[in-house]
Amino acid sequence: MAKKALLTGCTGQDGSYLTEFLLSKGYEVHGIIRRSSSINTRRLDHLLFDGQREKVKRITLYHGDMIDSSNLNRILEQSQPDEIYNLAAQSHVRVSFDLPEYSAEVDAVGVLRILDAIKEMGLKVKFYQASTSELFGKAIEIPQTETTPFYPRSPYAVAKLFAYWIVKNYREAYNLFACNGILFNHESPRRGETFVTRKVTRGIVNIISKKQGCLYLGNLEAKRDWGYAPEFVELMWQMLQARKPDDFVIGTGESHSVKEFVREAFSYAGLDWKKYVRVDKRYLRPTETDYLISDSTKARKLLGWSPKIKFHDLIKIMMDADMRAAGLKPVGEGDKILSKKFPDRWWKID
Ligand code: NAP
Ligand code: GDD
Repeated sequence: MAKKALLTGCTGQDGSYLTEFLLSKGYEVHGIIRRSSSINTRRLDHLLFDGQREKVKRITLYHGDMIDSSNLNRILEQSQPDEIYNLAAQSHVRVSFDLPEYSAEVDAVGVLRILDAIKEMGLKVKFYQASTSELFGKAIEIPQTETTPFYPRSPYAVAKLFAYWIVKNYREAYNLFACNGILFNHESPRRGETFVTRKVTRGIVNIISKKQGCLYLGNLEAKRDWGYAPEFVELMWQMLQARKPDDFVIGTGESHSVKEFVREAFSYAGLDWKKYVRVDKRYLRPTETDYLISDSTKARKLLGWSPKIKFHDLIKIMMDADMRAAGLKPVGEGDKILSKKFPDRWWKID
């Protein structure tokens, strides 16, 4: 019988890739989507409507929300999953300063709601929690590992800190198979348009297409360890296939500033970034995470983690995709990297 996975946040960047990955592994995928006034399944549409009947039949969607316990309980009861991937979150750090209470409800208490339902129903299920490098915040150690002390710097990160510890607590107290994937930033052509990488690649394409005159950004000095989302979702699955539940740091081990990203992306399109980028204080955060860089030694040793895509390739992949989406001819280096490095690719190229 096919294994069953329940995904929260299946309409997001990671949720869409993970859905695709699990389908390629033969799973039945049960996904929770939020009711919204406009259709929010665009990242899944190629799976829902691509005519591959066999795959479409293995997807079941439920309306639900992380702040509604009775609904979550009902979905758990109905879907009876073997594995749960909790990816749903108010995932924007800057927005969490405007919506602190809501971010805590979804990103912190929401996790507890699911864990407690698993415990109360006595479900035999493995649980993955989308934890984050934002826990390291004002980083106390460089690079960051599973033992680096946390210093969260936003309501988002504080909520995710609660989530991290409640996963650990339920694992120890009730013997649940529950893992925290402490993932560093990972991007793709499916990245939300207001996160900085995608804002830049889309902005460049809009500038070329004369839809936008310049690009307004915030802090250009912050440094991030940016990887490629499809590779990261495979690791989520691998964590749940391990013999025992554990927590893992996942990143590329390279860190670059926002300014470097901007410079390289503009240069890929043959433009000088200084002519187009303006700093706008509205995009600054009350407290910032300045420097993230991972040490994923544990994941390398225990899960065989070895990222194929790092900073320079990532920019090319994202730029080519946004150029194509805008009807422009892609430069093409990103497409070549994908064909060369992923001959057995399970995801659709955007
Ligand atoms: P994303 O694209 O913003 O997706 C978030 C998902 O959560 C969407 O499906 C969204 O639904 C759903 N969601 C939001 N609020 C919800 C609610 N109240 N109830 C039910 N669903 C809700 O985020 P992502 O980049 O894929 O990240 C996935 C997870 O990994 C998140 O938990 C994020 O915090 C965490 N994470 C991400 C990164 C990264 O670099 N991407 C790194 C570390 C950790 P809609 O589509 O309707 O908005
Ligand atoms: N979003 C955004 N927009 N960020 C900007 C901008 C801008 O115009 N200008 C500069 N930045 C800077 C931010 O201040 C931050 O230092 C950096 O770019 C990255 O911002 P985001 O792309 O919004 O990502 P994030 O690092 O804050 O959070 C993402 O990664 C986390 C993992 O470390 C999200 O995906 C989180 O959900 C995730 O946990």
